[in-house]
Amino acid sequence: MMLKLKNLKLRQKVTILLLIILVAGLGLSGLTLSAVLTQNAKEEISSTALVLMETMKSVREYTTKQVNPELQDKLETTFLPQSIPAYSAREVFEILRKKRDYKDFFYKEATLNPTNLRDKADDFEKKIVERFRNESSLTELKDFRSLPGGDIFYIARPLAITDPKCLDCHSTPEKAPQSMIDRYGATNGFGWQLNEIVGAQIISVPASKVIQKANQSSLLVIGIVSIVFFTVILLINIFLNRQVVIPLKRITQVAEEVSMGHTEVDFDQLSNDEIGHLAKAFKRMKFSLDKAMERLKSTGRTRGHTKGNRNEENPGG
Ligand code: HEC
Repeated sequence: MMLKLKNLKLRQKVTILLLIILVAGLGLSGLTLSAVLTQNAKEEISSTALVLMETMKSVREYTTKQVNPELQDKLETTFLPQSIPAYSAREVFEILRKKRDYKDFFYKEATLNPTNLRDKADDFEKKIVERFRNESSLTELKDFRSLPGGDIFYIARPLAITDPKCLDCHSTPEKAPQSMIDRYGATNGFGWQLNEIVGAQIISVPASKVIQKANQSSLLVIGIVSIVFFTVILLINIFLNRQVVIPLKRITQVAEEVSMGHTEVDFDQLSNDEIGHLAKAFKRMKFSLDKAMERLKSTGRTRGHTKGNRNEENPGG
């Protein structure tokens, strides 16, 4: 059914107009909103990831400075993973991942020449590490990455050998504890230099997490905007009804009654706005009309007495 604008009531027109504005506004801002909120979600996840990375760095430092020296003697005979910074970082992260808030985070120390081949940087991660090695000013990289198992969002920071103590185990196999060589062999994870960037700390989350976070925020924003808008539409409807529709209906009703000869009803000015002025103008008009009628009646009566049927030449009085 086609709605004809001119057949609609004032309130319906205003409501339709506001609804069109709402839908168009939400549609137009939707795209910008989703971009902004995705950016927001990325930043939120990044800041969590950065805290986690710094925590892992601290765990590494704690292990290097406080745990490793205590265990050094034993390390010659038995291998104690607890003395290895990379091990404690990974263990701590795994404990963290048991908590609901962090279960989607993954941690990797992607390394070009790793002791444990599990830590080997893949081709994509290799490029990240190479960039960190070539651009010393670059301290952080973050982006989306497509993987067969689904897209991820990652944030990476360079991993450098800052402590000479690291070289106890990562310079030459001869310097490294025997128990470590027994376990990992003498080929991988050696030849590292002091201050060299050997890999990258990478924290990643499934990209769907970012999208999901952004969508949650979009829904919230759209919800709030819609509620505000519907309240506005409702209030405007009430306002229009009270201030325009009811007074206009009243004026119409009185005008109809007056036109049917009920002179006892009158227009009443309820406000000082345009509608009030309209009522006032009608009131004046009715007053003039009453006066004219009265004059007409009285002259009609006097002339009727003197000149007879003069009135009939002037109908419509
Ligand atoms: C006691 C010997 C030892 C010391 C000291 C040590 N590491 Fe390691 N590091 C290892 C071993 C063993 C592994 C492999 C652990 C595993 O199986 O995950 C490893 C792993 C790593 C990894 C992960 C990549 C890889 O090689 O598998 C990085 C990065 C790393 N170490 C950096 C450092 C830094 C930086 C320091 C100094 C702060 C340091 N290590 C000190 C023995 C050591």
